[in-house]
Amino acid sequence: MAVVVVIDDEYRQVEIIRTILEEEGHEVHTASSGEEGLKLINQFNPDIVLSDLKMGGISGVELLDALPDMALKPAFIIMTAYGTISSAVEAMKKGAVDYLTKPLDKDVIVHKVRESAEKINLQKENKWLRYELYDKFKIEGIVSSSKKMEETLEIVKKVTPTSVTVLIYGESGTGKELIARAIHYNSTRRTGPFTVINCAAIPDNLIESELFGFEPGAFTGATHRKIGLFEASDKGTLFLDEIGDLPLLTQTKILRILQDKEIRRLGGKNSIKVDVRIIAATNKLLEKEVSTGRFREDLFYRLKVVTIELPPLRERKEDIPALVKFFIDKYNQEFGKRIKDASEAAKKELTDYLWPGNIRQLESVIERAVLMCDKDIININDIKSELRLPQEEGILDINIPDSGINFEELEKTLIKKAMIKSNNIATNAAKLLGMSYKTFWYRLEKFGLKGNSSKGDIYP
Ligand SMILES: Nc1ncnc2c1ncn2[C@@H]1O[C@H](COP(=O)(O)OP(=O)(O)OP(=O)(O)O)[C@@H](O)[C@H]1O
Ligand SMILES: [Mg+2]
Repeated sequence: MAVVVVIDDEYRQVEIIRTILEEEGHEVHTASSGEEGLKLINQFNPDIVLSDLKMGGISGVELLDALPDMALKPAFIIMTAYGTISSAVEAMKKGAVDYLTKPLDKDVIVHKVRESAEKINLQKENKWLRYELYDKFKIEGIVSSSKKMEETLEIVKKVTPTSVTVLIYGESGTGKELIARAIHYNSTRRTGPFTVINCAAIPDNLIESELFGFEPGAFTGATHRKIGLFEASDKGTLFLDEIGDLPLLTQTKILRILQDKEIRRLGGKNSIKVDVRIIAATNKLLEKEVSTGRFREDLFYRLKVVTIELPPLRERKEDIPALVKFFIDKYNQEFGKRIKDASEAAKKELTDYLWPGNIRQLESVIERAVLMCDKDIININDIKSELRLPQEEGILDINIPDSGINFEELEKTLIKKAMIKSNNIATNAAKLLGMSYKTFWYRLEKFGLKGNSSKGDIYP
């Protein structure tokens, strides 16, 4: 069912349409002039407007221009006499979604109105979903008690109304994606898409087709057209996660897109205008990557118009009690529990811990504690087993001799040991050392441990 406003200065015409549409279950309001129609539009906020093109007073096209500033504009269908189709086309350029030619055909009216109603419903759903998300990612929902986080959120508030490029630095689990989403859902782009690509997780040879899309025949296997993330993020925000891992050639292309605001699909001939805000994140020091030639300096400067640094949790321990409470509430809801808080001793334990995995780790510790806890307060026993640091497990039981050590040698030894432990499978060895595959691979190459295998996964 849709709410429809029908406008035509021919009374009989209007009544016929009313009968047809009411039979279909739509709510119909009718007007005999553009002026009257505009009043009805303001009053009923319709999903669909069916309007004659030529009327005394405001014409159908003028009505399109005069539509009030609504969150979701109605689908506007122009009705026009046969022979004036060129003006109908003109109306479509101004934003009408379709046109009907007179004499009107019942089936055509029913079909076109049904089609528009479906589209509008989808748009409404999307909008509604996005507003839900907006609520979820509002800045007030980001827990912060420490001075460092308050300062960070001040910057976030300043950049949200703009479209400037933002570069977010932070260790894993510090909330980089949360901040990126908060910027998007609090900006004027919030009704547009928010898309994410993790540059470290996608192999180099696939990253460009993900970002830019391709045309059929662009390369072997490209059988169809693919829309890339830049295009899919039009009027929205593209979050380039782990941007430090982007191949140099792709960096060059991204720089060009940022400058020209247009993209070209792989194998495509035409440039396509895109209006995309970029938020990039990294846990690497990009300055260092620039100095070693692994990151383009010009792209670096282009990205860091505004830089947001998310400190590791160990440097903002004041946030811990509030975060603990926040996650207890979150998982109370999820698991239907009523845990009030953590005991003072448990809180002290949680605050003293160094949190190598930052907030993500804290969240999973609390999630588990809420799930397991049978009382209404989380005690030390509910969390203790989770709070072991790698050192306590003896992994890094290394004594530095007075003569010092050669760090590179140590690194090489660790790489070799990880390869042996993982049966020479580089991806698994990288995981053992908590490195991305790329970082690990780079080190294998650096130490000449790559072997002859072209696939590169096998250690000699
Ligand atoms: N200040 C905060 N308040 C509430 N929740 C937070 C806060 N910071 C992070 N979180 C939560 O912690 C989890 C990890 O955050 P997020 O995924 O944004 O981190 P990240 O820096 O992108 O991590 P990674 O580098 O591992 O991808 C998420 O569930 C997020 O909602
Ligand atoms: Mg992330």
